[in-house]
Amino acid sequence: MTNPQRTQGRADSSPWHRLLDRQLTRRGALGTVAATAAAAALPLTLGDAGAVSNNGAPILADPQALPPRSVPPFRAIAPGNADTLTLPFGYRWQTLAPWGEVFTADGREIGFNHDFVGYFPLDLLEGGRSSTDALLTINHEYVNALFVGGDTKNRTKQQIEAEMKAVGVSVVRVRREEGGWKIVPDPRNRRIDALTEIELTGPARGSAAVKGATTVRGSVGNCSGGQTPWGTLLTCEENVDGYAKAWAGSGYEALHQGWVTEIDPFDPAWTPKKRTAMGRFRHENVAVTVAKDGRVVGYMGDDMQDACVYKFVSRGRYEPGNRQANRDLLTEGDLYVANFGNGSWVLLDYEKNARLRDAKGADGKPLFAGQADVLADARASALTVGGTPVDRPEDIEIHPRSGEVYVALTNNTKHGNYFGQIVKFREDGDDAAAQKFLWEVFAVGGPQSGFASPDNLVFDPHGNLWMVTDNSDLVSNPIKAFHGNNAMFFFPTEGPRAGRAHRFATGPVDAELTGPVWSPDGRTLFLSVQHPGEDSESLEALTSTFAAKPGTRIPRPTLVAIEGFPGWGGA
Ligand code: FEO
Ligand code: CA
Ligand code: CA
Ligand code: CA
Repeated sequence: MTNPQRTQGRADSSPWHRLLDRQLTRRGALGTVAATAAAAALPLTLGDAGAVSNNGAPILADPQALPPRSVPPFRAIAPGNADTLTLPFGYRWQTLAPWGEVFTADGREIGFNHDFVGYFPLDLLEGGRSSTDALLTINHEYVNALFVGGDTKNRTKQQIEAEMKAVGVSVVRVRREEGGWKIVPDPRNRRIDALTEIELTGPARGSAAVKGATTVRGSVGNCSGGQTPWGTLLTCEENVDGYAKAWAGSGYEALHQGWVTEIDPFDPAWTPKKRTAMGRFRHENVAVTVAKDGRVVGYMGDDMQDACVYKFVSRGRYEPGNRQANRDLLTEGDLYVANFGNGSWVLLDYEKNARLRDAKGADGKPLFAGQADVLADARASALTVGGTPVDRPEDIEIHPRSGEVYVALTNNTKHGNYFGQIVKFREDGDDAAAQKFLWEVFAVGGPQSGFASPDNLVFDPHGNLWMVTDNSDLVSNPIKAFHGNNAMFFFPTEGPRAGRAHRFATGPVDAELTGPVWSPDGRTLFLSVQHPGEDSESLEALTSTFAAKPGTRIPRPTLVAIEGFPGWGGA
């Protein structure tokens, strides 16, 4: 059997595409590798049943947790171009936290362009898993200057300040009440924005690589993220370079951005921390788990064409219940980059790797003077030591039953890959701290499979994968004809239907669906609708009016709550 998807949309080849082709040829010969059986039982070494991921699944893979259920709980919808959020029959959505909504006692507003959403059950620290009362964290990735300030070229000081306050993160208490979800007043409701004081931690703190800083202003480019087993948010700073120009005169410093920032939604008095040990690049996300020996592991993607996949392994060990100690775990550890050629993790350590010490730039000068430099330009370090440049790694998630790590590779127009793919790998010995891994292709985008440009991923506890697409930035977009607006898909990961895409939702015009997260009972899916109407050329020529305030037409990015699911126990 040949695989017709193999060369779809490829104009040329790259080392990554040669590896992909090899995998897909093997897949063609073997039938479907995605249909391999679920994992053999993995030992749960920590016995910490309380630690759950943001979708309510255990942090440690557990094949016994819930049986696979690979039939979608909905009738798939067709592609569409409507200016609304379209869902299958029997499902409904409500606007929950739109841009501009005042939600704190001191009058702060929900920010712009929602992305990652963290779900923190309100009773989490008491061991609870409330599905009706929670602190949500919402990333606000960037602003559309046309909608936030009006002038996209000559920003005033006031406009720059408004933009700096419209990005970052919102911590919002929400509750399911009669009639739907509502934002409720809470002393923990707050904004972290481009002006908030944040502490640098780890090897780059105070170094020349960050211009000697130990505290910095703000977190920007907040794309996707992750949640830790101890109940904090990791927000990932992705596209941070453009602000030096857009916010000229504001004191913005790009070297202070592009990190992973840890925020405690339960403790506003705890200063947010940038984790320099996790490297600086275009951080899309971090998927957190615990290795067999208790060290904390985070998988991360650098969302850029021909950039790499990383793994951070903490020095210290996770202590269930010891939140105070766990909050320091990400300060020190080892950063690795993935070599997909031989399935190995390569350590990015200046002292231990001569290639980093010997690396020279085009001018013949050393690229790195020490570990702080290695971390602050992790991309250059990764390519120096043989990290495999891949096709824009976006979200990464860990399968709740098998422990396999799924990576969304959005696309790479540089090599003619318009449709992207999802790959997955399994760590040696099923240990997240392993040095080797085995990878394979899970699903390939294109007209045949029906999806393109996979971005955010989230699993349900049965092990089904839910994915949202990002076709937004393709200049001459060859996708729209078969794909329609950006959408959300369901993929079984086990059984004969593994890897098949089923469309669950289609977003409004010029929007991207982002940040999907479940309530622990699986009855509510929180979803961000990002940048509706983004391609509007003026306020008079809007391409979308999605979620506009009554009586107005300007579209609003918003968080929505989707209901109609049977829940994890349902049919
Ligand atoms: Fe912000 Fe890579 O998406
Ligand atoms: Ca993304
Ligand atoms: Ca995710
Ligand atoms: Ca994206």
